Amino acid sequence: MIQNVAVLTNAELPTRAEAALAEKLGCDIHSPSDGNQHKPLFVLSWRAGRLTLISTAADAPGGLCVDFSGAALLRRARDGLAKQGLGKAVGLKKRPLPTVLDATAGLGNDAFLLASAGCRVQMLERSPVVHALLEDALRRACNAQDTNVITTPEQNASSEVSADELLVRAVQQLTLMHADFLTTPLGENSVDVVYLDPMFPADRKTAKSGKGMFLLQALLGEDCAEREMLTRAQSVASSRVVVKRGKRSGFLAGVKPEISFRGSSSRFDVYLQTP
Ligand SMILES: C[S@@+](CC[C@H](N)C(=O)[O-])C[C@H]1O[C@@H](n2cnc3c(N)ncnc32)[C@H](O)[C@@H]1O
Repeated sequence: MIQNVAVLTNAELPTRAEAALAEKLGCDIHSPSDGNQHKPLFVLSWRAGRLTLISTAADAPGGLCVDFSGAALLRRARDGLAKQGLGKAVGLKKRPLPTVLDATAGLGNDAFLLASAGCRVQMLERSPVVHALLEDALRRACNAQDTNVITTPEQNASSEVSADELLVRAVQQLTLMHADFLTTPLGENSVDVVYLDPMFPADRKTAKSGKGMFLLQALLGEDCAEREMLTRAQSVASSRVVVKRGKRSGFLAGVKPEISFRGSSSRFDVYLQTP
């Protein structure tokens, strides 16, 4: 049973989709007419066709949804990831491209960027609420795939890839699983790269703490099993483990990586696996 989160309905009776989501997540259904007595801290609601997480706190920022078709994300995907910290850390110059297990998928941004660069990326997310947001984004992207004309001859001839095509190509490389990385069965050396981006402590303000991260931190708190995460990642990755950290944060579990790549707001620590 999920505490603190309910599915919001604005009708007298919940819609079928609202009832199904509440059943799947094992959470209550909340209606504004319930008043403040049992008001949950967060509600989930479809806004403009997107499943959105909304804090019910008076001073809360707007809602949070996962949107792989957002202009900023697509711009970053176009910007040549191989030259950026994330791409260098994962080893995008290698051929064949590495397979990646994103063990802490979150809002899926990093997974999407790696998939748009051509990597096969499996996303794991343990929070049922965050998993539902990701699942909804993938569903919408797949619907776009079914309805959009993917390429025109002009686009095929030019090196410029349309936003729709970029989205479709990336989504085809992504899979999603609702699972805890520490407990779900995974083979040893079963993937080239394990990527970790655990939650930061809420009081450490970094550039990561945009609206999305702020809401995620309020919902999930911080992740603390650092040593277990790193040890598990090192047993599952055959080539390397990449850990995303705040620019000035300490190393995961205090373990020094072999290489670090610095981005504008993040650092990517690389732990190489010995063959
Ligand atoms: C900081 S967010 C990741 C953000 C992500 N890199 C992105 O680009 O949007 C961390 C996420 O990891 C998830 N997480 C933490 N520990 C996990 C575990 N053991 N297994 C699966 N997911 C985990 C949390 O629920 C949270 O959604």
